[in-house]
Amino acid sequence: MNYTYSQLPQVEKTEQERSERIFFKDVIEGLTSNPKRLQSKYFYDQAGDVLFQEIMNSPEYYPTNCELEIFTKQCGLLAKAISCKGDDFDLVELGAGDATKTNFLLAYLIDQGIKFTYKPIDISENIINYLSSTLPLLLPGIKIEALNGDYLDMLSKAATGSKKRKVVLLLGANIGNMSIAEAAAFCREIREILSCGDMLLVGADLRKNPHTILAAYNDKEGTTKKFNLNLLTRINRELGANFDIDSFDHFPSYDPQTGACKSFLVSLKKQIVQIGSTAIPFLKDEIIDMEISQKYTLEDTRALAKASGFIPIADFYDQKNWFLDTLWLASE
Ligand code: AVI
Repeated sequence: MNYTYSQLPQVEKTEQERSERIFFKDVIEGLTSNPKRLQSKYFYDQAGDVLFQEIMNSPEYYPTNCELEIFTKQCGLLAKAISCKGDDFDLVELGAGDATKTNFLLAYLIDQGIKFTYKPIDISENIINYLSSTLPLLLPGIKIEALNGDYLDMLSKAATGSKKRKVVLLLGANIGNMSIAEAAAFCREIREILSCGDMLLVGADLRKNPHTILAAYNDKEGTTKKFNLNLLTRINRELGANFDIDSFDHFPSYDPQTGACKSFLVSLKKQIVQIGSTAIPFLKDEIIDMEISQKYTLEDTRALAKASGFIPIADFYDQKNWFLDTLWLASE
């Protein structure tokens, strides 16, 4: 679709038209602000999903394996912590993806005869269809009610649709793709939807040797660079833009004082990019702020829990102490 502001459809006929309009608006707003920025949630088109899988398989990108280790080696402890009340509960996962890590927990809970319903939430319809059809085959006996849509909308739906206690999973360091202030606001919104006694398990990538962190976002194969540049390709294809991809470079950074790991694209020359009828001028060396992957200290996670109305009740680390899954209780 090739939009201009004045040509935006007044009444969208389909959900796709609505998301295209929001994508266009976010891109134009981001690229006309100072400094220029794009939202990393738009990385994940079909090609972006494949590139992210490649990143997760790269030798430098450690977070996935660290959290997988927690879910494989400490599954029993995790299961005990979330099912300690002995009731039948709803296990709601925000951004379930293919549920690789969660599968270990699900299998353990089923094996132990613990009663629960798995409610994965994802914005990808493909993922939701995949989980609904494959999990009952992989894990016979599982009760699954998959929800397709925005995390908080679907969490509200899950909360109003059943009176059972909720245990919410927010894994994979997804909280890191928000600034600390945004993460606090997001967790507060989750808390408002939940009731006292519900739980939230948050995955946070911890601060560690800055070289290790920076390397994870600057892999030698250049997949993270492709992952960032792919968003320009997506804008070209979906919004009728003419980014010359070779005129932009990837610049990863990590600030060990704040824990902010940020990715930028750098314009290699003075140029004008056309997005539909909107012209976006770039200076030579001008940057686009692409993504934050905030790294946490234990104290940061404690402050986040407190600021959003939760009490930390258990912590699960990998053997290297590089990653933390922290379990919080919704308090009064
Ligand atoms: C999805 N998210 C937790 C990843 C991260 O580590 O921030 C996305 C990513 N970006 C570059 N590499 C991985």
